[in-house]
Formats: sequence, structure tokens, C-alpha cells
Amino acid sequence: MPILTISTSAIKFQNKMKKHNLSILGLFTLVFCLSTVTYGQTAKGGKKISTDLFGLFFEDINYAADGGLYAELVQNRSFEYNPTEQGSWNPYSFWQYVAPGYSYGRISVETSAPIHPNNPHYMVLDIEHIGHEANYSGETGVGLKNSGFDGIVIRKGEKYNFSMFARQLSNNSISFAISLQNTKGEVLASGLFSTSSNEWKKYATTLMATASSDSASLVVLATTEGKFALDIISLFPEKTFKNRSNGLRQDLAQMLADMNPKFIRFPGGCLAHGDGLGNMYRWKNTIGPVEERKEQRNIWGYNQTAGLGYFEYFQFCEDIGAKPLPVLPAAVSCQNSGGTWRIGGTGQRALPINQMDEYVQDVLDLIEWANGPANSTWGAKRAAAGHPTPFNLQYVGIGNEDKITPEFEERFRMIFNAVKAKYPEITIIGTAGPFHSGDDFEKGWKIANELKVPVVDEHYYCQPEWFLSNLKRYDAYKRNAGQVYLGEYASWGNKLRNAIAEAAYMTTLERNGDVVRMASYAPMLAKKNFTQWTTDMIFFDNVNIIPTPNFYVQKMFMSNQGDYFFNKVISFDAKDTTLAASCVQDSKTGDVIVKMVNAGNQAKKMKINLSAFGELVPKAEMTLLTGNADTANSFESPKKIVPVTSDFKAAPKVEYTAPAMSLSVIRIKIKHQ
Ligand code: AHR
Repeated sequence: MPILTISTSAIKFQNKMKKHNLSILGLFTLVFCLSTVTYGQTAKGGKKISTDLFGLFFEDINYAADGGLYAELVQNRSFEYNPTEQGSWNPYSFWQYVAPGYSYGRISVETSAPIHPNNPHYMVLDIEHIGHEANYSGETGVGLKNSGFDGIVIRKGEKYNFSMFARQLSNNSISFAISLQNTKGEVLASGLFSTSSNEWKKYATTLMATASSDSASLVVLATTEGKFALDIISLFPEKTFKNRSNGLRQDLAQMLADMNPKFIRFPGGCLAHGDGLGNMYRWKNTIGPVEERKEQRNIWGYNQTAGLGYFEYFQFCEDIGAKPLPVLPAAVSCQNSGGTWRIGGTGQRALPINQMDEYVQDVLDLIEWANGPANSTWGAKRAAAGHPTPFNLQYVGIGNEDKITPEFEERFRMIFNAVKAKYPEITIIGTAGPFHSGDDFEKGWKIANELKVPVVDEHYYCQPEWFLSNLKRYDAYKRNAGQVYLGEYASWGNKLRNAIAEAAYMTTLERNGDVVRMASYAPMLAKKNFTQWTTDMIFFDNVNIIPTPNFYVQKMFMSNQGDYFFNKVISFDAKDTTLAASCVQDSKTGDVIVKMVNAGNQAKKMKINLSAFGELVPKAEMTLLTGNADTANSFESPKKIVPVTSDFKAAPKVEYTAPAMSLSVIRIKIKHQ
């Protein structure tokens, strides 16, 4: 144990200390170094592998951001919804005009003097009469009601932060009654305030809920006659992840944090390169005050507020100890723009060359925004948002599974060369198309090899059988070329058999962790009834979170990463293609982690030989994921497949029977000498 190491060492050094006139502080420093060295030991014979192997892919698909991870509870808060997102949508969508108590007035969406040109629409309320008709004792006023993303979840005893921008258009102060109401119209929380300005001004109040509801609405009622404009009507639970303002949904964010990812990719996916050039994700539109951000059509057919923008993403990465991995478009749009995947993906459009200087500068500016000092042009914007210290960005992805056309190549080279020249310390990630092989894959890698791109992003979604029959894929990769980022992969399905096929494949990513630098399952989040992609890692609604078996596999690997891989620790019938295994050691803790996968229908024996690792702590921990191959978790039965943790008796040589259709992860502690 380290404590023992320290005290024994201390006695041994007592005399030397006297001899060399060392101070107490000096001794402590020496002892601290010794104990760190002891912890840092790994067994001989290990292969150094990536320290960033398993991370997360985040894309605003399936309502992953707005209505999902982003904790905003009001939908269409800034009246920017429009028919390009969904045919029936417009600035009034998800807002209902209300005028209780025999009141009356008018509403209109206007654009003449917005808070900011990026946020052009706002709502005007012209209140002609606040009714107090005979014997009427209920609420009165004229205003708006919003039921959020399929109902607002309110919990008794919790606080909710309401805010809105208002501008008086008549020469009087307007009083407001804000309430959260259940479907019967009963008030669950309420607050009052009055306007005081003919300029846009933000008003805020905290509402305390006295009762709960899963389907509440926000009601904003003006109780004074007059005319005024409203925008960015917002409601957040006070409890967001790490209590960040403009923050993330606590339960979902915590679940991701608990996976222990090494990195998070953002903002996509196809969302990054966009549905046509005008739809490319431009990071500069997503930072700064939310009222100045530019909303736009989400490529997946809804609206993205950019409320969860680059700042919130970087902050989340920092909060959970994951490295940010932003992926920027390579100045070309998605090849499937306009739905052209139906005719073979001919929709790629390239930014005109005369706009490339400006575009390349945008990419460079992102790095300055993330890493530059607080007095640099873009670092100052980060500091103004509340983060004066740099974010330590290390990776930047250029392009997302693009069709490798001459237009792509020309623009990729321009961006790559500029980033490499100005920021040689940044690891650039190139792209090799949407499939595991084929034309784009070959061309993408060819360009990467020519330019010496350090890491290349591969994407593939396949049947579980494909994963099981390609367990040797990366064994054959050249070790003197670019490394791989397996940026998107999944087997088609969320049954246990899919997850176990992925687990088998992930052992091979560990085995090849010298050439596979990173990997992320995709997509990550999917909201019930708002799903555009059927195979996802975590399903959720406003109340529940349903982890899939695939999620558990990811979590078991992410939480058990090592930085040295050991061959020959686990032996099994090599001809049996349903078996796979890996063994890594984490040099920080010295823990040895063994992962064994049985994708077959019968239990199989494996032998574990841990004799290279020194003295083992006999009590180890095993996590086992197993069950019926065709079982999935659902909203009705969320816990059909869950991992089970138990004690495991560690010994230098152990025979283990891997249950049918299973992933077993055993974490063994080593006695430090
Ligand atoms: O992960 C879902 C989508 O799959 C991504 O947006 C895209 O990059 C890929 O085709």
C-alpha cells in the first residue's frame, strides 16, 4: 500500500536527511515523489496505447440539445421558428394567446427593432382591456402560454428561474403575473414584476413550485393595459448540472459525466457541415449572450436555438474532465443536402474560394477563443463569458464524413495548412467519408497520408455480424501513418446482441490503441417521439432516462480505460469468432483491467494469466452485462438489461466461464511494493 511505502521510505531516509541537511519540506517532497513513482508503475511488456481512447459523440439530433440536454423549458422562446424547419411552424408556434377574465387585446410578431439582428423576431402585445367583469374572481390579463417541449416538468419544492426581455411601446409601466400551471389550470408557482423601460431590458424572477406536474405550462400575463414587446421568454430549473446558468439538464448531464468519457465531440455529425452552405454550423453564431446568438434550422428537421453553443459545450467538457473535440466543416456542406441521399448524395456545395480566407480565419479564431489569453481578441470573448483561463483545446476535427471531391480537397488543404502553420500544437483530425471502405474512404486516407494528417475520422454503421467478422481490422493498419479516430460507429440496433458485438469490437480498439487514438459511439441521445435516427445510446423523455445495453457497454469501457495494453493475458479458443478479450493497465492507479466478451449462445471458458503484474489484491471487482440476446430496454421495461457488480477472487491464474452473450469487466488492484 502507498502509505506503507511512504513510512518505510521515511525511516530509511531519516539518516540521509540529517547527513545532507534536508528540510522537512524537502523530505515531504522526496516522499511524495517516491509514492507517485510507486503508483506510476506498470508491468513489463505492455504496449503504450492512447490515453484518449473512449469518449462521447454529441450531435443535436433526436432533440438531443433543445428539448434534451439543454435545460431550457420554453419552446420557441425567441419567436424564431419558421416553416423551413417544419412546414406548419412559424414564430407563433408553441405559443397560445390567452386573455382570461374577459380581457382582450392583440398580438403580432414584428421585426422592426429587435434586441439584436441575429434574433430578428419578437412578439408585440397590445392590451386594450384587462377584464374585471361582474363576479369574476379568477386571474385576468392578456398574454401567452407555452407548454415547452411536450409539457414542462415541475417538481414541488424546486425553484425555476424565469426571465424575459421586454420593451414598453406605450408610455406606461406594464405589470406582469407569471405562473406555472398544470393541465387543470391550477397554479404551481407564481411571480410578479413590472417593466420600467422603453428600451429592451431583461427582467427575471424566481418561481418556487408548491406542487408537481409532468405537463405544466408557463403563463405570462400582462395585467396592465398598454403596449409592449417581448422576446427570449425563458424558464430554467434552478438545479442545472453544476448549477450553471444557461445550463444543462441535471440528470442527463450527470449520466454522461458518470460514464467518464475522455473527450466529447461536438456539434456533429451532419449538423456540423449542414444542409447546404447557409446551414453550416458556424461556431461564432453560438457564443455570447443568448439573445445575440443566431438560431437556425437543424439539419434533422427542427429548430436549434444554439443556447447549448460552443461556450456551454466547452464548459461541460471541463466540468466532467473530458477533452473538447470540436468538428468544423471543411467549407463544404453535407453531400446529402436537400435530401439528395435519395439520389446518391449529390448535394455537396463548396464555399466560394473568395470566401475561404474569411472561413479559414474563423477556424483559427476558434483556437484563439479556446486557448488564447484573456486579452487576445477572441480569448477576451471567452473571458467575457466567464472563463478567463484557456480551455486547453488539443484537438480540432476538419470535416464530417464528407464526399471527397476536388472541391473538398482544395478547401481541406487550405484549412489544414493554416491551422498547422499557426497552431502546430493542435492535433488536426481529417475525415475519410461515411463508410468503412470504398471510394471516399480510400481518397480521404490518401489525402491524409499525403498531408500527414495526424488523425483520421472513420465512420461506419453496420450489422452486428460485420463487427464480429472484422475483429482484426486495425491489426493490419500501418503504424507509421495517421492514427484513427473512429468518430461514429454502432451496430444497427439496441438489443443486447448489438451491444455485445460492439463490446467485442471495442476490445480490438484497445488492442490497437497505438493506432486507434479515439472512438465514439453515435448518436448519443434520442428523445421519445422526436427521433430521427433509430439506433441510439440513451433514450429519454422529459422525466425518464432509458440507458440501452449499448450505453452500458460504452460506460463499462469508458470507466475502465488503461494506458498500457497487454497481450496474452487472456487465452481462449482463437478459432471461435464469438470470443474477444483485452487487458489494459492504468498507470495512474496500477489497476489491471480485464475485459472478456462472449457473443455466442453458450457459456465459454477463458483463462486469465495475471502473473506478470506482481502481487494482486485478492478482492477484485467484476461487472457483468448479460441476458437474452434479443432483449432491449424500453420505457415500459427500462431495466431488463443492466450490469451487475460483484466481488471477484483475483489470483495469478484463473479460469473464467464467460456467460453466453456477455461482457465481463474485472478490475484488479495490485499490491504496491
Ligand atoms: O450519427 C448520425 C449521423 O450519421 C451523423 O449526423 C452523420 O455524420 C452520420 O451519417
